[in-house]
Amino acid sequence: MLSKSGQTCLHTVIQVALDAGSVLRKKFTLDKTIKYKGLRDIVTDVDLLVEKKIRENLKEEFPEIGFVGEESVGKEDIDYKEGYKWIVDPIDGTRNFAAGIPFFSLVIGLSFNNKIILAVNYDPLRNEMFSVEKGKGAFLNKKKINVSTKNSLEQSIVGIDLSYDANGAINTIEPIIKMWPKIQTARIMGSAALGLSYVASGRTDLYFHYQLQPWDQVAGILLVNEAGGVVSDREGKKIKIFSNGIVAANKKIHMEFLEISRGLDFTKI
Ligand code: IPD
Ligand code: CA
Ligand code: CA
Repeated sequence: MLSKSGQTCLHTVIQVALDAGSVLRKKFTLDKTIKYKGLRDIVTDVDLLVEKKIRENLKEEFPEIGFVGEESVGKEDIDYKEGYKWIVDPIDGTRNFAAGIPFFSLVIGLSFNNKIILAVNYDPLRNEMFSVEKGKGAFLNKKKINVSTKNSLEQSIVGIDLSYDANGAINTIEPIIKMWPKIQTARIMGSAALGLSYVASGRTDLYFHYQLQPWDQVAGILLVNEAGGVVSDREGKKIKIFSNGIVAANKKIHMEFLEISRGLDFTKI
């Protein structure tokens, strides 16, 4: 599939992400308008601005493809089952972005009949572009990436994030407490998309989350899979684009985590 200007889909998506990322970079140090969507869930004027920009740029190059974005088109409005669909998170890690913590990214994914076929996750402050196409491997700035080769949780750096929902957050901390004597260390990332990309690139060895939305995980699922890792839902079943919980790691560590978390509330769906 080529864009209107004759470029490949991935090339176009990378250009759109770079363009949107430069806005995030410029706006990062400026004042933002913050609104609450829930008790802990915030959105800034920049989320809205960047989502609109991404949407318009994608529409220009691929007018026929539908769009789902965190801040404009809710997933409930969309039938993912039919044809191609963009799935976009203009800022993953808005809390960090709004607080001036330099760790956030933007996500653009493409699904076809509910299957993720291509995605990017771009960290504009580090100029790190994680990109992936189904069947073609996972890349960081065009260099192939792989999940870590660590053999056990004992050697592992574990990434997590806490759900906005209080129970979800507690259920996420529980496995950390149980694993604590057995892991190297844990990180609360602040961006699930980057948390998953870091597993894909072997920087961390395991990432899990109680409840994510399609735009948080669309890039991470494909990146970790194409980087040779395993991604499942909290029960250990095959992950889907709308599964609301995720476990990602290399095969050994994934299995060890499922074992150690068995019976905990984290695994109950
Ligand atoms: C959030 C981040 C965070 C995760 C939340 C997500 P947002 O996305 O990925 O790490 O814990 O569940 O909603 O709101 O910053 O786009
Ligand atoms: Ca997000
Ligand atoms: Ca977001």
